[in-house]
Amino acid sequence: MEQTTSIVKENIIEKLYNEHNLTDNELLYLLQTDAHDAELFEKADKKRKEIYGNEVYIRGLIEFTNYCKNDCYYCGIRRSNRNAERYRLTKEEILETCARGYELGFRTFVLQGGEDPYFTDARVCEVVSAIRKSFPDCAITLSIGEKSKASYQAYFDAGANRYLLRHETATCQHYQKLHPAEMSLDNRKQCLFNLKEIGYQVGAGFMVESPYQTPENLLSDLRFLQELKPDMIGIGPFIAHSETPFAKYKSGSLELTLRMIAILRLLFPYALLPATTALGTIHPQGRELGMQAGANVVMPNLTPVRERKKYMLYDNKICLGDDAAQCRGCMDARLKKFGYEIVTSVGNPRKAD
Ligand code: 5AD
Ligand code: FES
Repeated sequence: MEQTTSIVKENIIEKLYNEHNLTDNELLYLLQTDAHDAELFEKADKKRKEIYGNEVYIRGLIEFTNYCKNDCYYCGIRRSNRNAERYRLTKEEILETCARGYELGFRTFVLQGGEDPYFTDARVCEVVSAIRKSFPDCAITLSIGEKSKASYQAYFDAGANRYLLRHETATCQHYQKLHPAEMSLDNRKQCLFNLKEIGYQVGAGFMVESPYQTPENLLSDLRFLQELKPDMIGIGPFIAHSETPFAKYKSGSLELTLRMIAILRLLFPYALLPATTALGTIHPQGRELGMQAGANVVMPNLTPVRERKKYMLYDNKICLGDDAAQCRGCMDARLKKFGYEIVTSVGNPRKAD
């Protein structure tokens, strides 16, 4: 018996690489040990190369409003943070930002914001249609939280093609520790399935080492993602924000975040996996290391610099002073150094068939 276990452990990365799955016990073991990290990262990088070569996709992130009606305990723009200076971009400012991004080679715009009641469905649709009309060859991604299926359908009909909504954690009891009572995991999951049904390319994801997170929670996240089959999976370390109830909690580690990225690459060979800003925040080379662990997307910030520091989901966020061109140039240089090539295409996920 002892022997069987150790044989499984020896071949665990090979098995994950070939079968794109492991048992619960194997995953729980792998999540909690650094014993296989070198092999895990190497195999994840190999898998990414097989499917995406050395190409890295870029998405231009436009943080267009930091008003939010929600009160998530971890998030710096939660409604109870009275010290957050609020802003929203006008439709014209959003379009100018897209135009600037287009010149720099961006072909995907990610419109991210808090759940801002000012942006009614009509206003969101107006912005989306205007972008669609001016930039017909671009993908439009929305990341504006939980809405009704009818709202999601309306945005889709207006021209949006992708939607990012991290599930945050797939365990009910954990979800309740991160969010006030009026929010529910069931609703969030339903939103994700609705988005898929409508025809969006969908991104889900979670924070690594958010308060109270256990290895079992992470396992549930992986199992939920296998059920959802999203096109993109965005993960990053939890980072405390000083004006939230979680101000005193420890940030997620580089080590576990990289390990999770690598596991995701091997479980979901075709997924788009961003090396996130949060990862770049906890380590100067976090995003580059994320690529080496299997990530294949970066999302440089296009938000006008005067508003950037106001979109503070967590403390010490990077890229606050750099304008769109600087961020783009910086990302290019960083990735080239590691042998990756930024491609300026829409950047769809590659499918097995
Ligand atoms: N640390 C890390 N990530 C955070 N997010 C929100 N607050 C934090 C934080 N304090 C992430 C959430 C959200 C995404 C937009 O940013 O996962 O879905
Ligand atoms: Fe923004 Fe480097 S990516 S400054």
